[in-house]
Amino acid sequence: MRQLRSILLTGGAGFIGSALVRHLLRAKGLERLVVLDKLTCAGNRGNLIGPDQDPRLDFVEGDIADHELTNRLLREHHITGVFNLAADSHIERSLQSPADFVHNNVLGTSCLVETCRSAAVPLLQCSTDEVYGPVSPPDRSVEIKPLNPTNPCAASKAAADLFCLAAARCHGQDIVITRSSDNYGPRQHAEKLVPTFVHAAFHDQPILIPGHGMQIRDWIHVDDHCRGMIAAFLKGQPGAVYLLGGQCERTILGIARSVLEILGKPSSLITHVPETPDNDERHAVDCSKAVAGLGWKPQERFRSSFPLVVREIAANLQGSGVA
Ligand SMILES: NC(=O)c1ccc[n+]([C@@H]2O[C@H](COP(=O)([O-])OP(=O)(O)OC[C@H]3O[C@@H](n4cnc5c(N)ncnc54)[C@H](O)[C@@H]3O)[C@@H](O)[C@H]2O)c1
Repeated sequence: MRQLRSILLTGGAGFIGSALVRHLLRAKGLERLVVLDKLTCAGNRGNLIGPDQDPRLDFVEGDIADHELTNRLLREHHITGVFNLAADSHIERSLQSPADFVHNNVLGTSCLVETCRSAAVPLLQCSTDEVYGPVSPPDRSVEIKPLNPTNPCAASKAAADLFCLAAARCHGQDIVITRSSDNYGPRQHAEKLVPTFVHAAFHDQPILIPGHGMQIRDWIHVDDHCRGMIAAFLKGQPGAVYLLGGQCERTILGIARSVLEILGKPSSLITHVPETPDNDERHAVDCSKAVAGLGWKPQERFRSSFPLVVREIAANLQGSGVA
């Protein structure tokens, strides 16, 4: 039986990692939480302000590809489980510098898999529904859908997943993979879609929509994603993949309109720009395996939680005096 007693969480200074820190610190039986983060341009120690006061939390700056370091952390802290959220996740950046994605996502994950194997520690690998590429309506991606990544970031996440699945198969290693849809929530990096839209609207600047803007994503609140990862760690079958989604499909244009409505700004700020090559027409996920197997389901309603997130991002812009 897997235990949350002493956890190594990688990528904990990022958007989803810092949300997971808050969930794990509230979880029953947690005695030690070690956050390992390389603090790339997406990592921010400020995301841990608040939880960093908790004496059970340790922060270590370092790379998941550093086998010696991760090995030492597992031994010194008697780690009972690893959650791997360390990754490069900016699709646009992956078009310019794919080698960073190979290092952090593929090499990094395969090193961590090896560390966990040698210490016989279970691993939860956090992945994305982007590994499946586009899916046409009325279908939704299911766990067994063939992988079909359409950009270097998604390709590197798919490769990382395959290393995990291969280790589970050939060594019987205890690894569970979750693949979530697009997250919204507090502390997301300023370059991501929702914060970018809020920033533009807040400053009465154009919201740039690539192409027609009818590309569909499933939106999940980051707290639902975190609850799903913890449920998968505690109850998931070794070697299994679980899809997590918010059961909330929205177009990119719809998200932009919602942001403008919430902030009381005119729809004239919407400005269409040329399509980018990495923009899949539709992502959608079928979460029935997670619902049946993990006893998990999304709890947050987009209608009520999205406005709170948008207002929080806007309030932070106001507070920081960003001009
Ligand atoms: N954001 C989403 O909508 C979304 C959706 C599905 C899955 N995911 C997955 O969730 C995970 C976290 O995503 P996020 O949005 O929080 O990303 P993020 O960019 O906000 O955070 C990633 C963190 O990982 C750290 N990191 C990167 N490479 C590292 C390395 N080699 N060693 C140690 N730390 C390293 C960064 O410094 C950063 O703090 C990723 O695996 C991502 O693929 C994200």
